[in-house]
Amino acid sequence: MKTDNADKKSFLYTALFLVICGGIFLFLWNAPPETTVKLPHDATHTKYYPMDKKEAEKECQNCHNPQQVAFPKGHPPKYRCLFCHKKEE
Ligand code: HEC
Ligand code: HEC
Repeated sequence: MKTDNADKKSFLYTALFLVICGGIFLFLWNAPPETTVKLPHDATHTKYYPMDKKEAEKECQNCHNPQQVAFPKGHPPKYRCLFCHKKEE
């Protein structure tokens, strides 16, 4: 019968979908913990904690630039500092 076949097919697709979701979930679950340095909680940086991230990021490069606090060699592109350098808990 035709409908039976269609049912079987959609069951297979659903099962496949669930297996893939499970795989992605396990992959993310096992990912290593983030190691990027967090935004320090010191005199200079604490004021950025309550601020909106985009607002705060406008000021980072006042100090974090090649003339003052240089970035380490090979630092990734740095438009959104707080995207990578998360606030500490
Ligand atoms: C007034 C100057 C100044 C501003 C503004 C500033 N920083 Fe810094 N930051 C420093 C200095 C100086 C250091 C290095 C000395 C230290 O570790 O305290 C530093 C260190 C850091 C570090 C490395 C900490 C570590 O453990 O090695 C990170 C990450 C950082 N800043 C992120 C930011 C971000 C993100 C912003 C913007 C929200 C920002 N900073 C704004 C002066 C500044
Ligand atoms: C795409 C992710 C990313 C973005 C965006 C980013 N960083 Fe980084 N930053 C890193 C990584 C990775 C390192 C290497 C050291 C590490 O493992 O944390 C680093 C290192 C640093 C360090 C040296 C920390 C130390 O103690 O060695 C400072 C200071 C820093 N970043 C500041 C900034 C600032 C300020 C901005 C925004 C202008 C910024 N970063 C944007 C990923 C990022």
